[in-house]
Amino acid sequence: MTTKNQELANWVSTVAAQTQPQEIVWCDGSDSEYQHIIDMMLEDGTLSSLNPETHPNCYLHLSDPQDVARVEHLTYICTDAPDTVGDNNNWMPIADAKAKMNALFDGCMQGRTMYVVPYCMGPIDSPYSRCGVEITDSPYVVINMKLMTRMGAAALARIEQEGGFVKGLHSIGELDPERRFIMHFPQELSIMSYGSGYGGNALLGKKCHALRIASWQAKDEGWLAEHMLILGLESPAGEIHYIAAAFPSACGKTNLAMLIPPEEYKDWKIWTLGDDIAWLHPGDDGQLRAINPEAGYFGVVPGTNAKTNRNAFDMIQRNTIFTNVAQTADGQPWWEDKKEGVPSIDWKGDAYQSSNGPAAHPNSRFTVAATENRAYSSLAEAPDGVPISAIIFGGRRRELAPLVYQAKSWEHGVLVGASVASETTAAATGKVGVVRRDPMAMKPFCGYNFADYWGHWLSFSERLDKLPKVFHVNWFRQNEDGDFLWPGFGDNLRVLEWIIKRCKGEVDADETPIGYLPNAEGLNIDDLGIDPAVWQSLISIEPEQWRQEMDEFGEYLASFGDRLPAKLKAQHELVKAALAS
Ligand code: GDP
Ligand code: PGA
Ligand code: MN
Ligand code: MN
Repeated sequence: MTTKNQELANWVSTVAAQTQPQEIVWCDGSDSEYQHIIDMMLEDGTLSSLNPETHPNCYLHLSDPQDVARVEHLTYICTDAPDTVGDNNNWMPIADAKAKMNALFDGCMQGRTMYVVPYCMGPIDSPYSRCGVEITDSPYVVINMKLMTRMGAAALARIEQEGGFVKGLHSIGELDPERRFIMHFPQELSIMSYGSGYGGNALLGKKCHALRIASWQAKDEGWLAEHMLILGLESPAGEIHYIAAAFPSACGKTNLAMLIPPEEYKDWKIWTLGDDIAWLHPGDDGQLRAINPEAGYFGVVPGTNAKTNRNAFDMIQRNTIFTNVAQTADGQPWWEDKKEGVPSIDWKGDAYQSSNGPAAHPNSRFTVAATENRAYSSLAEAPDGVPISAIIFGGRRRELAPLVYQAKSWEHGVLVGASVASETTAAATGKVGVVRRDPMAMKPFCGYNFADYWGHWLSFSERLDKLPKVFHVNWFRQNEDGDFLWPGFGDNLRVLEWIIKRCKGEVDADETPIGYLPNAEGLNIDDLGIDPAVWQSLISIEPEQWRQEMDEFGEYLASFGDRLPAKLKAQHELVKAALAS
């Protein structure tokens, strides 16, 4: 295979001349190609088969132990001026970044196969979709891209038809953390990633293209690229509302997107459209329309069990690539909180000993095609997406943030999104459990200056006739013993029900300085057995704590200087004034 697109053909030749691979393979995305690469990896030991009786077509990849998460400190946006990317990103001048990366890429594929991977982010026939080509020397990347994107011949055909595409160059290099960089060039729609095989660093269609590069394009073109799940909530009457929700990595997106209703809600249904990324466009109908650019799930494994997430648990019994989980003696995948089986070999491939820490890495992942999910929405493939009724922001906060509250307006909703802060997780290298500011859950992913990004969000009040309502949730409040106060998982449906009722004006709420909170009867907690005092603490605010939070948030906003939109500043002042009175 080669291509009629001259720009692509030239780029592939240039890269081959630079990296000197032994062989070039153009990926067609076929099942036989997938199987062939799997067989090769089984042969060379970079993949092993899991128990074929319990887990047909399931494979395990153990990564380099120093390559298990995104590396935000080594991730850069490279443009002609630093103020375009803001303090929320690492910036490097384009020429310096190119020089650094070219030195790493020179000759780096000697003795290896170079794969050319055309992919389409979004349904292949959607006007909202965008294509890219990833060149990589990692077969692991190729098989993951096959599950995560529309990859191969159809994507190449679309590229040949429409011309433009994002160029992503990737090599695992030596997997040396000292020789590892993820560089983005939004002005020329290209990405260079070296030295890591981890999903977020190496599957370039995902965070690099669909969030960092796409957010830049979206600002120029009038849409939004967001770190959001998309779900459809179907009521017993058969009415479906679509909701998009942004939570930081490892804070519950995949679980919410696949939620199974509790017994009391068995006539309700959640349909999954996406679990990590949403592209949101103003539609011809004046509504905000969402597509999921991805075609698969790259999900956190630990914590997944038959009770917390039955859909995901069942979905990963077959046709799944596991990365960095443990194994039982009979070759089944195992992880913390799986609630069945015992680990025999840990994620490093050693005999399991509890003194060595968790058996599965806390950021171990499954990769599986979206079509394996029994709750996959038929509208996930719709070219014009689905209309969004509500946008939810959320984070992982032991204290402060109530279970749910509603913003008072679109402008206030942008402030609520901008104010997201969350405890760090194992999805990125660094300390876990420290609260950091993570506006719109996009701190690691917004490819440009947050001040401009908030301005762009504010502009949607003019772009849409029917604005979604904006909410904030927190499933993670804890008591002094570290127990979660809210049961979470399936019972989060109760909160979604309240949200949709609020959208339809069917339930009253209490107005507070930070927004509308559920009143004691507004949100259904029947049969949950929650202690009334605990319930009260989940749906109320502590003004002194909030005054402090708003002061700290104010300092953060002020750090964006003159670029901060005046409307956002005004919203912050309104909340502060309300808290002071
Ligand atoms: P994502 O990375 O944002 O997609 O997050 P996941 O849905 O994969 O969840 C990350 C971790 O949070 C997993 O260990 C889940 O079991 C846990 N989690 C998800 N939802 C809830 C919830 O409602 N309550 C609690 N306590 N934990 C949750
Ligand atoms: P997550 O996606 O949001 O499911 O954790 C991966 C990541 O953000 O690194
Ligand atoms: Mn994510
Ligand atoms: Mn996820």
